Amino acid sequence: MKEVLEHIEKGRQKALEELKEFLRFPSVSADPAYRKKTLACAEFVKDRLQSIGFKTNLLSTPGLPVVYGEWMGAKGAKTLLIYGHYDVQPPDPLDLWQSPPFEPEVRDGYLFARGVHDNKGQHFAHLKASEAFLKTKGRLPLNVKFFIEGEEEVGSPHMEEFLRAKKDLLRADYAAVSDSSLFTDGVPAILYGLRGIAFLEVVLTGPSHDLHSGGYGGTIANPAQVLIELLDGLKASGRVTLPGFYDDVIPPSDWEREAFAKLPFDEGAYLQTTGSLKLSGEEGFTTLERRWARPTLEVNGLYGGYAGSGVKTIIPSQAGAKVSMRLVPNQDPEKVSQIFEDYIRKKCPETVQIEVKYYGGGKPVLLDPRSPAMAAAGRAVEKGFGKAPVLIREGGSIPVVATLKEVLGLESLLIGFGGPDDRIHSPNERLAVENFYRGTLTAAHLLNELAS
Ligand code: BES
Ligand code: ZN
Repeated sequence: MKEVLEHIEKGRQKALEELKEFLRFPSVSADPAYRKKTLACAEFVKDRLQSIGFKTNLLSTPGLPVVYGEWMGAKGAKTLLIYGHYDVQPPDPLDLWQSPPFEPEVRDGYLFARGVHDNKGQHFAHLKASEAFLKTKGRLPLNVKFFIEGEEEVGSPHMEEFLRAKKDLLRADYAAVSDSSLFTDGVPAILYGLRGIAFLEVVLTGPSHDLHSGGYGGTIANPAQVLIELLDGLKASGRVTLPGFYDDVIPPSDWEREAFAKLPFDEGAYLQTTGSLKLSGEEGFTTLERRWARPTLEVNGLYGGYAGSGVKTIIPSQAGAKVSMRLVPNQDPEKVSQIFEDYIRKKCPETVQIEVKYYGGGKPVLLDPRSPAMAAAGRAVEKGFGKAPVLIREGGSIPVVATLKEVLGLESLLIGFGGPDDRIHSPNERLAVENFYRGTLTAAHLLNELAS
C-alpha cells in the first residue's frame, strides 16, 4: 500500500492538471446545444481509463452514452463497480462566476469549475486511485468496473432500461458512488439514505398572444396570475398540501432521530452558508430531519410575461413553473407526480389551457448501514481523511442508487468527499484541492479494504 499512496502523493500536481482538462469539457446534459462537447467529454473519460489499463467501451443509450471500463485481472477476487457521472448542471447565470465555469482555476486552495465537485472530481479520484495501483503493482487488489453515465443531472432517464439490458456486464459484489459531501469541513460522512425526486413543469396558456393590459385587463384571465394561485395551494407552513402526498411516507425511526441529534451540526453555520435570513420548514422536525428524512416540494423556476427593465403593460400569453418534489421512502415518483397533476388540473380554471409535463424522477433509498462493506468503506474513509466518518442520510438524489439495488441487488457505498458548501448547481462551484487528494487516498484504501 505504501508505494500506492506515495505514487498518489507524488502525482498530486499531475492529477490536478488532468482533472482540469476533464473540466474544460462543457458536458451539460440538460441542453442539446452542448451535445457534441458532451460526447467529446465521454471520449475523454474513456481514453483516460484506457490509458491506465482498463478495457473500455462507450455504450450507447437513447440519450448520452455510458463510459464503461473494466479491469478483471484479479481471478477469484470480488468485483467493485464504481459509478459516476460526466455530465454537469447548466452553468448559468454566467455573470456570477468569478472565473469562467469551463476554465478551471485554483484560488485559495480550491479548484473552481462547473462539475468539479459534482461529479467529475469525485469519480476522477477513483480513476487516479486505480491508476496508482496499476502503475506501482501492475494490478488491482480486486476486479473493478467503471460505470460513468452522462445523464445523471437530468434524472438518469435511461438508466433503468440500461441496467436491465446490461445486467451481466455490470454484475459486481459492491458498488461505490462518490457523489456527495463531507458532513462538515474535516468530518467525512458515509450515507445510508438519499431522497428521491420527481420533477414536473406546468405550462398555462391564456390568450394566443400577449394582450394590452389596459385594453383587455379585467376581461381575460392572466395565466401568470392563475399560475400563482395554483402554486399557492401546494404548500402551507412547510407542509405539502397535495392530498395523499404523505400516505406512503415512512417517518425517520427513533434511533435515527437520536443519532441525527448527536451529530456535530451547527445550525447557525449551516444557515450562514446559504446567505438566507432564517431557517424555515415543517414543524415538529429538526433541520437535519427536514433535510434528509422528510419530503418537500420546491418551485425551481418561474416564467411568464415581461421581466425586463422598465415597464411593459401586458397580459402575457403564457406562464409556467418548474417544480420538483423530494421524496423519502416509500414514496414513488410516478405516484406523487400523478397526485400533483390530478390536483393541479382539477384546480385550474377553465379560462386557461393547462399542460403538465412529467420529466421523470428517481426513487428514494435507504441502505443497510451495518453491512460489512459499509464497515470497509468506513475504514477507507478514516484512512483517507484521518477521521472516522459519521453515518448520515442526505437530501439530494442519485437516481441510479435505487436502480442498482433493484436491478443488480447492489447496495451502494456512498462515500462522497466534496465540501459541504461547494456551491454545487450554483455559480462558483468548487472542490478543495486537499479534498480531491484525500478522496483519491480514500478510493485507494477502498480497493484495499474491500479486497481483504
Ligand atoms: N451529487 C448530486 C446528489 C447529491 C446532492 C447528493 C447533495 C447528496 C447531497 C447529484 O448530482 C444531483 O444533483 N442529483 C440531482 C438529481 C436529479 C436531477 C434527478 C438532484 O439531487 O437534484
Ligand atoms: Zn448534481
